[in-house]
Amino acid sequence: DSYKEPFRPQYHFSPAKNWINDPNGLVFHKDKYHMFYQYNPTGNVWGNISWGHAVSDDLLHWSELPIALDAFQAPSGPLTELYFSGSAVVDSGRSSGFGNKGQTPLVAVYTSLYTQDMTLPSNQTVRNGQQSQSIAYSLDDGLTWSEYEGNPVILGPPSAYSDQYQNFRDPFVFWYAAGQHWVMVVSLAQEHRILLYKSSDLKEWTITGDFGSVNAVSGAWECPGLFPLPVDGNDHDIKWVLMVGINPGAVAIPQGSGTQYFIGTFDGSNFTADPGTILSSPVPAHYTVYEDWNKTSFAASSWTPTGDFVGEGPEGGTVLTLWGKSKGDGDGDIGSLTSSNFTITSKYVQFQIGCCSNPAIVGAYGTPQDIETTINLLVSGEVVRSTTGVSGGGITWRSWDVSDLVGQTASIRLIDSSSGGWGHLQVGEIVFTDSPLPQEANWVDWGPDFYAATSWNGLADETRIAIGWMNNWAYGTDIPTSPWRSAMSIPRKLELKNVQGKTQLVQQPQPRLSPLEQGKPLQQRFWKNMSPGNITLPLSVKSVDAELTFHAGKNPKETGISLRQGSDGAAIRVGYDFATAQMFVDRSAETQDVSFSNLFPGIYYAPLSADHDGMVKLRILLDWSSVEVFGGLGESAITAQIFRPDSDLAVSVFSTGDAHSVSLKLYPVGSVW
Ligand code: FRU
Repeated sequence: DSYKEPFRPQYHFSPAKNWINDPNGLVFHKDKYHMFYQYNPTGNVWGNISWGHAVSDDLLHWSELPIALDAFQAPSGPLTELYFSGSAVVDSGRSSGFGNKGQTPLVAVYTSLYTQDMTLPSNQTVRNGQQSQSIAYSLDDGLTWSEYEGNPVILGPPSAYSDQYQNFRDPFVFWYAAGQHWVMVVSLAQEHRILLYKSSDLKEWTITGDFGSVNAVSGAWECPGLFPLPVDGNDHDIKWVLMVGINPGAVAIPQGSGTQYFIGTFDGSNFTADPGTILSSPVPAHYTVYEDWNKTSFAASSWTPTGDFVGEGPEGGTVLTLWGKSKGDGDGDIGSLTSSNFTITSKYVQFQIGCCSNPAIVGAYGTPQDIETTINLLVSGEVVRSTTGVSGGGITWRSWDVSDLVGQTASIRLIDSSSGGWGHLQVGEIVFTDSPLPQEANWVDWGPDFYAATSWNGLADETRIAIGWMNNWAYGTDIPTSPWRSAMSIPRKLELKNVQGKTQLVQQPQPRLSPLEQGKPLQQRFWKNMSPGNITLPLSVKSVDAELTFHAGKNPKETGISLRQGSDGAAIRVGYDFATAQMFVDRSAETQDVSFSNLFPGIYYAPLSADHDGMVKLRILLDWSSVEVFGGLGESAITAQIFRPDSDLAVSVFSTGDAHSVSLKLYPVGSVW
């Protein structure tokens, strides 16, 4: 029997063999859920990126189909083009003109990553490393695909961002019924911006909007998705959700990847986040902020340490300690400013760089391209780190890892590197810190292993089902599985609900796992009062669907369940901390068994309030190498891979304080393979 290797997921999708990453081209068509994914046809590490394909009737049982877009068969030559992430739509109106009357083309929209300078069959020229948007179509319901001969359909980003041609990817396309046109959201990864385009035929695209850069922005923005959902099921209260992947800079592992979201409005052209979903990024007080600047050279104007821009940043509020402006007569005329010497005592430097995107200011003083700031870190007069901020698009957050420089004497220099015109140059507070801090964000999932999440096109308007790559770029290629590497999360139904006075994204596994749950609960227990201690249950489990609910007792601390427990007591702990109102997954026990990455062990927390009756509710899906926890109505989720020894299968309920009305239901889950 296949699919029984160590760590092989039993009810999550994984390919029979080889590497996968992002889910792509999710489309529901003729009663089938199609799922494509980033796939290496020849190995179980990232490479030769193609689109693999699987299909399902129920989102649980999947069959692999032939590779849909094969990098070894790229029209311009084997491996000259890699098929990066994207989406797919059913072109019911045949707006693309593909096929013949009466046929319904499926159209995939993806990023072409070109691996050399060349002229394409369409006569367009591309450079090595360029990322462009392309389309392919299928006339046999998704089985076989042909690339459009006019590819790419978007050669590069708009001129204000032309230097970003290697960081322009992951188009998500959908039909916007209210405007009768297609919409694409696509990422400018290093700028932390999402561009919006529209089209009537999926071939000609016009830019309509630009969103960012806010909330978590310390890594690359990838894999955006945009969709409408009713709030609390009310058709007259439709909001739009923008999901964006970030890598690195996520909440669970700052060196790794994760998924954030914004709630807002969409008018067919622009996405505007509701003010409440834009979170500020206050710099914790204990950081050392060097404000001791020596002015060295000035031309028309000067660098001025100032607090002028407190709260006035384009996205509402970072304290800027420096602010300079030129008198407008040309290149680099603000000169530079060098700090006095200091000793590097922390591992990271974080700062914000750029120019205010306030249109009044940009409009009055120059075009975005004219304005550029460079920040250098100098050790013994040598530039050891350098970052240039292209401005006009707002302030972006950058950071340097300086762990190799701890103990060295250094200074920082700010340079006006603008190439002409007027310039407003800014660098924000320069922060020295020991951890590469993520910024505040609305996280779709607070665990380490839910990335590049995207959702199905082709379902009823209000049905939104998403799935994520259940892995993390911090260690993804090293996880100890073979001959496959990586699985997908459980598919999740997404809804918007008012929870604790705030509109939030809530998610629950979809579909119900009941077809796999073999009959009655394996265990059904109730404890009226639970005092500090552990209760070991008389069973061993490797895959289970559990529901644990409880209330705070007199002196509540932590209450939860230990899974995959060994005779040494080491386990995966899933629980709730009443003191901080957070649920958690603790896989720090993995230190004993997992040597593939020191970033793997850890404890992950998500905010969760008890409901109005004071009940805490945790739904827990355990598979052979993963645990997914949905708290409350699903307003908080934590997804984490686990790699426990096969022998460690015990289950116990724990409480370090008092809890009451503790109820546990454990359903066994069978295999879909
Ligand atoms: C995200 C990502 C995408 C890219 C793909 C390449 O995980 O980096 O941005 O399209 O993977 O495989």
